[in-house]
Amino acid sequence: MAFVASERLHLGAEAEVWAGTWMGQHAVRKLRRPRKWRHPDLDLRLGHRRMMSESRLLIRLKRRGLNVPAVWDLDPQSGRMILERMPGLPLIEILRKSEHPQEFINTTLRNTGALIRRLHREAITHGDLSTNNILVDENAEVSLIDFGLAAIDYEIERFGIDLHVIDEILGASHPDHTDAIEVLLEGYASEEERLGEAPEQSGGAVPTAEQVLKRLEEVRSRVRYHG
Ligand SMILES: Nc1ncnc2c1ncn2[C@@H]1O[C@H](COP(=O)(O)OP(=O)(O)O)[C@@H](O)[C@H]1O
Ligand SMILES: [Mg+2]
Repeated sequence: MAFVASERLHLGAEAEVWAGTWMGQHAVRKLRRPRKWRHPDLDLRLGHRRMMSESRLLIRLKRRGLNVPAVWDLDPQSGRMILERMPGLPLIEILRKSEHPQEFINTTLRNTGALIRRLHREAITHGDLSTNNILVDENAEVSLIDFGLAAIDYEIERFGIDLHVIDEILGASHPDHTDAIEVLLEGYASEEERLGEAPEQSGGAVPTAEQVLKRLEEVRSRVRYHG
């Protein structure tokens, strides 16, 4: 792999991510880290499967024109993946800083909602929609990363849960932006209006934006009720 590393971006429990270049282009190398407490054979199989699934979904989404990293190289045996480096900062940092005008924040949130709807229209749920996995560039263009827990889905519940994850995170960690989730959901709904009815996917019809938003409401009240 002709990857030239420059700086480490992230060291987490599951992965280590380096920025650098690959064939002269801005790239990242995502290295899966072995989990010591898991049996090595099981760990290898799980990690292998997850990386295969992540790259397969990324390739599919990139082909459909979504703003996600291209997969440039893959070595599941050693747990290494070379991805296009997406520009910008994680949404979590954009919301923490006070330097951005409200208009920029709102455009960012609307674009985020729209991109999540485009993802859902492909019958794919992300599985980990935290403000760390959403990158924002200087034009408020948004990209999604980290598809290790993403899946092909047709059940409304899992789409609703996807929105509920970002709902909870925006509510809990970004109290300065009280209506952030509303702006995001507005972007989610208007993307469907803009694009029209979602085309049928190989597994059938995907839930409509309206159905998913209704389910989000149900998930919210379930959570409120059960604490
Ligand atoms: N394609 C990418 N472009 C830019 N930054 C990335 C990219 N992939 C990962 N990163 C950076 O590395 C961090 C961790 O990567 P991620 O895929 O989210 O791994 P994890 O599963 O450990 O959360 C991200 O939050 C982001 O800051
Ligand atoms: Mg992540």
